[in-house]
Amino acid sequence: MKYDTILVDREASVALVTLNRPDKLNAMSMMMKAEVVDALRKLDTDPDVRAAVVTGAGDKAFVAGADIEEFAGRTPLEQWRMYERGTLYDAVDRFEKPVLAMINGFCLGGGLELAMACDVRIASERAVLGQTEINIGILPGGGASQRLPRLVGLGNALKLTLTGDRIDAHEALRIGLVDEVVPHAKLRERTMEIASRIASKGAVATRLAKRAVRAAARLPLDQGLRYEQSLFALVMATEDKEEGVRAFLEKRAPTWRDR
Ligand code: COA
Repeated sequence: MKYDTILVDREASVALVTLNRPDKLNAMSMMMKAEVVDALRKLDTDPDVRAAVVTGAGDKAFVAGADIEEFAGRTPLEQWRMYERGTLYDAVDRFEKPVLAMINGFCLGGGLELAMACDVRIASERAVLGQTEINIGILPGGGASQRLPRLVGLGNALKLTLTGDRIDAHEALRIGLVDEVVPHAKLRERTMEIASRIASKGAVATRLAKRAVRAAARLPLDQGLRYEQSLFALVMATEDKEEGVRAFLEKRAPTWRDR
């Protein structure tokens, strides 16, 4: 896949999507957002891809937000049309396969919203995170007002959103904003290790498990429990369930057929 503002690579069955404007700290232009949406659409239907990792190019930034230059002069109607076409954050949210954010530096504004739309967040010790929109006179528009409180609680979400302050990776781990912090030099190795581990499981059970857990952020408990039960009943129909159970009883490794 050839793009102008992103790179798409493969390491075995894990796709690596790199936002590639390091001179602008990978600030997301409209073109970059459209390219990520297009890449995700293709990766989601590629049977050889079992998981994806999103990261930023260079040594300084994951993503330092949406491209602030593009905010100048934007009208409400233009913004509304962008939402109607569907956003990058919607595309990440809808991605059926597991997607990890590999947070290698500044992760601010829309960058943090992108990371929060992912399933798992692994951060370098050097990462700096913040919901910084308030500092330029706007509020988050890529999902942070809803995803941030679900991850870190109302108080922490309001503190980050209203102060616009930046926090380091260890504070982010403490409040649950990231899931693991690793030395900068180990970030890629560790993220790929987790992604490969996820990719080694049966694809159908993985998709259903992802759907079930992500529903927890959307549904009331009772509906979420019923939803889990319906997916659990569905997984009983898969060949992988028979194979997984048989392999356990025969004390051998399973061979997944993804059906
Ligand atoms: N949009 C557009 N350009 C951005 C950007 C953004 N969100 N973030 C950084 N850049 C650009 C800078 O304008 C600069 O471009 P230039 O070299 O052409 O002047 C380049 O990236 C490097 O950034 P710089 O500010 O010089 O680096 P720094 O190390 O001094 O500061 C930050 C780093 C992240 C603290 C600072 O760039 C920043 O605050 N960026 C905005 C973050 C933000 O609030 N994002 C959310 C917006 S909604």
